[in-house]
Parts: sequence; structure tokens; C-alpha cells
Amino acid sequence: MCGIVGYIGSRKIDTVLLKALSRLEYRGYDSAGLATVNQGTLSILKEPGKLTRLVMRVKENPVAGTLGIGHTRWATHGEPSERNAHPHSDCTNTVAIVHNGIIENHDTLKSHLIREGHKFTSDTDTEVLAHLIERFHVIQGCGLEESVRRTIGEIKGSYAFCVVSSREENVFIAARNGSPLVVGLGNGENFVASDAPAIVDFTRNAVFLEDYQMAVVSRDEVKITSNAGERIREKVVRIDWDAKDVSKEGFEHFMLKEIEEQPAVIDRLFRMRFENGGEPKLFDVLRFDVSQLKKVERVVIQACGTSWHAALTGKFFFESLSGIPAEVDVSSEFRYRKLIPQKKELLLSITQSGETIDTLMGLRHAKQSGFKALSICNVLGSTVTRESDAVIYTHAGPEIGVASTKAYTAQLGVLFALSLWWARERGSVNEGTYRRLADEFRELPDKMRKIISAKDRVLEIAEKYFQARDFLFLARGINYPNAHEGALKIKEIAYIHATGHPAGEMKHGPIALIDENMPVVAIMPESSVYEKMVSNIQEVKARSGKLIVVTTEGNTAIERLADDVIYIPETSEFLSPFLSVLPLQYLAYYVATLRGTDVDQPRNLAKSVTVE
Ligand code: AGP
Repeated sequence: MCGIVGYIGSRKIDTVLLKALSRLEYRGYDSAGLATVNQGTLSILKEPGKLTRLVMRVKENPVAGTLGIGHTRWATHGEPSERNAHPHSDCTNTVAIVHNGIIENHDTLKSHLIREGHKFTSDTDTEVLAHLIERFHVIQGCGLEESVRRTIGEIKGSYAFCVVSSREENVFIAARNGSPLVVGLGNGENFVASDAPAIVDFTRNAVFLEDYQMAVVSRDEVKITSNAGERIREKVVRIDWDAKDVSKEGFEHFMLKEIEEQPAVIDRLFRMRFENGGEPKLFDVLRFDVSQLKKVERVVIQACGTSWHAALTGKFFFESLSGIPAEVDVSSEFRYRKLIPQKKELLLSITQSGETIDTLMGLRHAKQSGFKALSICNVLGSTVTRESDAVIYTHAGPEIGVASTKAYTAQLGVLFALSLWWARERGSVNEGTYRRLADEFRELPDKMRKIISAKDRVLEIAEKYFQARDFLFLARGINYPNAHEGALKIKEIAYIHATGHPAGEMKHGPIALIDENMPVVAIMPESSVYEKMVSNIQEVKARSGKLIVVTTEGNTAIERLADDVIYIPETSEFLSPFLSVLPLQYLAYYVATLRGTDVDQPRNLAKSVTVE
């Protein structure tokens, strides 16, 4: 996912742009660049590879001025290279542009522009924008703002871009349709970026651009307009976290920091979402009457990846606690299904980033089919939240590591709070049960801290198995989705093949995989299905499988069967997934670090999959 930054103010432009770009590295990229305007001259520097190469390039070629734009590129059209890196310029080196998204009609536009005599220097769709703006701004003499409007009138597709011109040193223009852009409001300076982490070093006052909007950004004013030019009154929000949340704070990796932030995240959720002296505030955005939510009779949940695992757990909460039937689908399938919404049926989308294209398309598909849409999301002002009828934010703070950890348990926390709220509204739990479960939820952070304090035990286990070729994760009941989650974590950061299965499925095929080289992680805290799990792991032992068991502390009997045991504190069955997932996160983290992979930015992955 590309990263965009823009700045105008009084600070040294290279310092601002490089700092802001460093905060977007987590999005995944393969080249980086920046453009500055100073005393009528446009300078562009760009490098393939990591940001450190651009930093070196800027050191060798110092730039001056206080106006500029920057970019980290995630290649879609054209291989990662200096010529394809952004910013892109026009034939006269007057205009520079950085872009995130896909210009769908770029081929047609490029052939027209070539016929008009424009010379292209890259294989990207983005360069078309630079030459279109040149046509209006340089050749026809329109101002930059008007030239951008006219350019937008010619293009189809998704975009978020920033553009500067050497002819106008007191302004830069930003525009969005489909890809996120946030404006940071400073004092005598203003910023634009793809994502809030890039601006919080400088300001926490933000405006999230909507689709088909532009921002005309000068030092003392930000003018938000529609593409047609109508002035729009901006809604300024205060970002509720700060720069330390997007710094490693002494941890070796963001992932490790975020694993260990989970107690604080759950504690914050308890204070926000459960009665704790005040009326619980469950819905951050509600664009219809809450009585309709109280009457919901069925929930359809769509999500991707780790968020899909949260969705599977949410199904258990809704059916066992609230008495509401729920179905779960991965967004990439859901978005193409023939949907027949039933009366009092609700769509629930779960997404950390709020920008995952499959989940966004699933949301749009469901809304077109007549669904009311509630979303659980971690990013303020993200596209999914703006297109939903109701939103519950997870407030986990920015999750920088590509592998989702704290956002996952925060999603579980919101799902649990929502299911308890429904259960009480529908009378499917009495006040006593509500209080008991809410109190158990309040105890989770301390229990998580206990697991964190014993993480070296997981490191010892990782040291035994980090060279394994495969891993198998087994669980039953409400912990079964964590079998998928444990497998996904190992796959995505340690690059080891792993699968998660309902343990009851072993006999139907996966048991053929078991041999003395296969580590099998059995997630089996004390529960209503514990004895069934014991039978399954006996089948594993009988075939010489290496057994790693996650179970409730005090259950020492299991040691006669398991090769390795990781104990977690006792809690109610409903809440056990919050605890059983931490050892799985640590296992993946330690196996990956032992294998030397890039834990925070694993190969081939982006933090949010915003392109098809
Ligand atoms: C999880 O560790 C992965 N990074 C990935 O599966 C992620 O959960 C998925 O892409 C969904 O992202 P979202 O929650 O932002 O929609």
C-alpha cells in the first residue's frame, strides 16, 4: 500500500518529509521519493529499496525550501525501480505528483497525451496525472487548483494524490477518491498524509478527506472543497493517540510491542464499553435509531484474515450469549454472493484498517442489497467507517506490525461487549450473569500480563521447533478460530506452512500429516470440550507427533502426554480465546526472529490490502 505525505510551512522540508515517510514504512513499499519546490525550482529525488537509501540520496543532494511531497511506493503498474518510483513529473519539470490508487483509464489517457507530444519516462499509471495537469497548468495557463479539478474530470479509478508546482510556492493540492487521505492542521503549517501516523509527530488535529474531495493547502489555510469547487466545512477531529504509539519505545519490533500492549488495550475497552460507573458507550457512530439494533434477529459477518478469525469467535459470542444466529464469510467471497437480506438482519464488517478492498466491496454490496451495516474498526475516519451506518472503534491505537495482534484481541473485546449488550437487551442473560462476565472481562488484563511475564517459556519452545517445515494448530469450540489465527501468524511472519483445524476434523484427513517432524499446537484450556481435545491429542501422540499444548494453569496431568506445555490463567470459557491467543502470537514472533525474517514488514505483505 503506497504512502503519501505533503507539507507546507516553515520547517526544513527534507526533515519533515523523511520523518513522515518513516512513519508510513509499515504499510509496505519497494521504493521512495520526494519533491520540493524552492525559489521557482522543482527538485525530485527518488530511490528504489528502503527509505534509508533515499535518506542517503538527500544527504548527497541537499534540498532546500519548506514545500514538498513524498511517497513510499507499493508497485502495482511497473516494477520497483527509480524510474517508476514517485514523485512523477511532467515534460517541463514544473509539476510533481505522488499517488496511491489505480487510474483505470490510464492507457487511453496516455495514448492521447503521447499524441499531444508528451514524453513519458515511466511505466506507471500515475505519470499520466502529471502530464494531464501539465496540459492545463503549463500549456493552457490555468492555476494549479483549477488544473487539478480539470484533471480529475478526465480520470477514472481510485486515487489519493498530492501535487506541487514550481509556479505556485504557497500551496499544494491533495485529492481523494477511494484511497485514504488525512489533513494535519498545524500553526502556520499544514500536512497531508495517507495515514495519521505520518502527522502525529507534528499535530493531532486532523481532517479526514472524503471521496470526491480536494484540499487546497497553504501555510495558514486549508480549503476543503468538492471536486466541483464547492467549499465544504471541514470536521476537525483530535487523534486520540500520539507519536509514542507509532514508535518502538525500546522494543525490537512493533509486533512485540503490540503484543504487550494488549492488557492496556483490553483495560481501555473495559472502561469504554462496559458499565464502569457510567453508561456504557458502545456505538461511536450510529446513523439510525438504536432501537433497530436492539431488534436484530440475525447477523451476517464479513472480514478478511485475522479479522475473519475474530468474526468466527464473534459467532460463538452472538449465538451462545445473545441468542442471535450469525453466519460468517470471508469478504472476498461475500462480496460476490447473491444476498437475500432477511427482516431484522444486520451486516457486521470487521476490519482493523477500514481500507481492505474486499471488505469495503462486501460492505457496498450488502448495502446495495438493503442491509443495515455495522462495522468494527481500528482506524478513525477510514473508508469502511464512513460508509457504515454504525461504527464501534476498537481504540487499540495504531497497529504498525503487519501481523495483527492487539487489534485482534480488541476486536474480540468489542464483539464480546456487543454480544453482552444484545444479551441484556434481549433478556438472554440476567443482570447477575452480565455482571459476572463483565467482571471476568475486567480481570483479563492482569491475566494477560501473567502470560507475558512467562514468555521465555514460549521462546524455549520456539528454539526447539523454529526449523520445522510445517505446523498444525488444533482446537475445538470457541477456541477453534484461534487455531486458524495461530497458523496465520506463523505463515505470515515465519514463512512456515501451517494450518489450523477443528480438532474433530483430524480423523477426516489432516491426521495423515502427523509424524515425528510435525509440531502440533493443541489449544485446549479447561472447557466443555476439553476431554474431547484429550482424545484428539492422544491420536497425535500415537503417531509420534510433537505436541505443544496451551492449557489452563494447574492442569499438570497433561504433561504426561505433551512434549511442551504453555499454561494460561483460568478464565471462563467465553473469555479463553483472549488468553489462549497470546502464546500463539509469541510462538510465531519467536520462530520468526529465530529464522531472521522481517517480523514487522514480512515479504509480499502489506498492512492493509487496498488494491484488488
Ligand atoms: C493479519 O495478521 C494479517 N495482517 C491480515 O490477515 C489482515 O488481518 C487482513 O488483511 C485484514 O485486514 P483488516 O483487518 O485491516 O481488514
